[in-house]
Amino acid sequence: MTLLPLRLGINIDHVATLRNARGGAVPDPLRAARLAIEAGADSITAHLREDRRHIRDEDMRRLKRDITKPLNFEMAATDEMVAIALDTRPHASCLVPEKRSERTTEGGLDVLLGHDHLKLVTAELSRAGVIVALFIEPSLEALEASRSIGVPAIELHTGTWCDALDHGETERAEAEFIRLKAAAARCAELGIECHAGHGLDYETAAKISALPQVVELNIGHFLVGEAIFVGLEAAIRKMRAAMDAGRANAKS
Ligand code: PXP
Repeated sequence: MTLLPLRLGINIDHVATLRNARGGAVPDPLRAARLAIEAGADSITAHLREDRRHIRDEDMRRLKRDITKPLNFEMAATDEMVAIALDTRPHASCLVPEKRSERTTEGGLDVLLGHDHLKLVTAELSRAGVIVALFIEPSLEALEASRSIGVPAIELHTGTWCDALDHGETERAEAEFIRLKAAAARCAELGIECHAGHGLDYETAAKISALPQVVELNIGHFLVGEAIFVGLEAAIRKMRAAMDAGRANAKS
C-alpha cells in the first residue's frame, strides 16, 4: 500500500504577535505566509481570537485574497467567528476551544459537552463549502463524538505529548504518544481525516509523521522562533525535511 501524502500547514499567528507588540505594520503576517508557501507550506493557518491578540480581521481578509495556497481559519465556534468565516470563505476551519486567560490553546474541544452546538456550526460551515476540523484530545471518546458531529477531519492535540518531552517526563510522553497513535489509527477506521498539531518541533514532527494516518501537521510557534536564528524559509525547509524523514519510517 502506498503512503498518504503529508501536508505542512504553517501557522503565522506569532508573526502578528510580534507586529502587534509595536502597534505598526511590520512584520507583516501576509509576507510571512507568502514566504512560507515559497518554502514549501501546503497551507496557511491563522487563528482569529476573540481578543484579536495576534491575527486581526483585516489579516484574514488579506490572507484569503492574496495567498496561493489554502487558508485554514482557526476559530472558536462562536456566532461572531462563524459569521466572519462565512464571509471570508476559507478553504478550511479548525474549531478550537478558547479561553481569554490562556496563553495558547491549552486543550482540545469538549466535544461531548459541546456536541449539539458543534454539530450545528459544522453543518453551517460545511454548507458554505468550508472543510471543518475539530481540535481534540487524542481520546477514543472524542473521536466517536466527532464522528457523530459529522466532521470530515479532526486535529489531534499534540501539546501534552510535546510538553511532557520538554520537561523530560519520559513515561508521560510515552503514554501520550500511545494515545496519539491509537487515535490516529481509529480515525482511519472511522473515515475521518487525521491532522495533528501544537508544540511540534523538528524532532516531534518527525516522530508524528511516522503515523501513516496523519495527513496534515500545523506548526507555528517553534518555526517563528527558529526564524530568528536561521530565517523562516530555512526553518520551514528543515521542518519539511524532518517530516519527510519521519514519514519514510511509516508503515502503511
Ligand atoms: N493547531 C492548533 C489547533 C492550534 O491551536 C495551534 C496553536 O495556535 C497550532 C496547531 C500550532 O501550534 P504551535 O504554534 O505550538 O506550533
